[in-house]
Amino acid sequence: MIRAHLTVDPHFTVGTINRRLFGSFVEHLGRCVYEGIYEPGHPTADEQGFRADVMELVREMGVTTVRYPGGNFVSGYRWEDGIGPVEDRPRRLDLAWHSIETNEIGLDEFASWAKKADCELMYAVNLGTRGVLEALDVLEYANVRSGTQWSDRRVANGHPDPHRIRMWCLGNEMDGPWQLGHTTAEAYAEIAATAAGAMRQLDPDLELVACGSSSAQMPTFGEWERVVLERTYDLVDFISCHAYYEPRGDDYETYLASAVNMDRFIDTVVATADHVKALRSSAKTINISFDEWNVWYQSRYDTEEKVTSIDTWPVAPHLLEHSYTVMDAVVLGSLLISLIRHADRVTAASIAQLVNAIAPIMTEPGGPAWKQTTFYPFSLTSRLARETALELKLDSPTYDTELYGQVPVVDAVATHDEGGGTTIFAVNRSLTDEATVEIDVSGVGDVARVTATSMFDDDVHAANSASQPDRVRPRENDSVIVGDGRLTVTLPACSWTVLTLD
Ligand code: AHR
Repeated sequence: MIRAHLTVDPHFTVGTINRRLFGSFVEHLGRCVYEGIYEPGHPTADEQGFRADVMELVREMGVTTVRYPGGNFVSGYRWEDGIGPVEDRPRRLDLAWHSIETNEIGLDEFASWAKKADCELMYAVNLGTRGVLEALDVLEYANVRSGTQWSDRRVANGHPDPHRIRMWCLGNEMDGPWQLGHTTAEAYAEIAATAAGAMRQLDPDLELVACGSSSAQMPTFGEWERVVLERTYDLVDFISCHAYYEPRGDDYETYLASAVNMDRFIDTVVATADHVKALRSSAKTINISFDEWNVWYQSRYDTEEKVTSIDTWPVAPHLLEHSYTVMDAVVLGSLLISLIRHADRVTAASIAQLVNAIAPIMTEPGGPAWKQTTFYPFSLTSRLARETALELKLDSPTYDTELYGQVPVVDAVATHDEGGGTTIFAVNRSLTDEATVEIDVSGVGDVARVTATSMFDDDVHAANSASQPDRVRPRENDSVIVGDGRLTVTLPACSWTVLTLD
């Protein structure tokens, strides 16, 4: 029998949760854009060819920001291919995903889509095969009102108002050997600093993200962040983190503890950023943009999906289209717990990605859009997380994992707002046993009503599909007992739960 104890007290806060924590990512990759968000001719397509069924799901998911247009794609991208009359736009080879890019969708269309979807657009510039001048050009095109070459081009293209994009990523994963233009930390730091300085001269209100490591497993991890921040500290606001998780064989115990790795990753990057802060005696704090995170069966790409033939360049191929299970949803929910726990320093994040490729939303061309299991913990967390992340006193039994040592069986985080509402997110990592969690809520005040919703299933590998879109859904958890400043809830084996206290 697993028993865990939590104490929730609104006096002990981590920090305000920035709504940008619930951001996502749309890359020109596979069917994320084409047949994903955009499919002219689809029965629900609007006048711009955007699928209204997908848009509705994006809103329901509670996505706040959207990073665009890549990803690996951006390091070979010429942004100006995607502006002006669509019939004049070139078809190009996308070397990152070995596809044809038709350029039907570019910055202007995507800015319109983001506006319709109520998302803030976060734009990545190409520092892989291009440089400072092109970054300035796209910034001028996007943010200057009019009266210059690029701003007037935007106006002539039918967009009189500037897009006013605030958050800009200075390249993508420049530490990764797979990246076009991959380079050393020193060389990247130099171009990132020059680009950042120049972009700020053009628009001082920007918020800039320097590339951190592609994962905590990169051989240059730690050193990369130090070198990049020592050169760019005064010029940028964020350092990025990227992390994807998948089970190694059937070691599900380690897989379910992926958030332990995310916790350590964040703590290490925070320590490195603060080390540079100390070296510089700076009053400024650099925060983290965790702008790629998710469950991704990444090893399947190299072994099953990757095409390299010079004769094969498909348009919008089926790439990285994984079917996510109940267990994947539990892991994803626990990654969100980790992000919220670090809300003081992780002030932006993007689940990668949004539609079809590594995605919570799937589409059939000409047919329906449907929700993967992973859709639910994201949407419930975005919808129900309150303003402030709380520090939680958590006592849980532990279990041994191959990669991370002893980890708590139960993990949780709580959020609270002044209005008196409290929301607790919890996972039970045990594959076999339910866990009873006793929560001391005496510091919260009178609890009138508690609602609990859980993701679990007898078959932890169950997934949704086009033919069975509702095979897995969150279910009401009616095990809650409230009384005397305490509440008790039973978390099913391998489950994710949200509790709202009114
Ligand atoms: O999200 C898929 C890919 O993962 C992105 O293009 C890249 O940045 C990362 O390696």
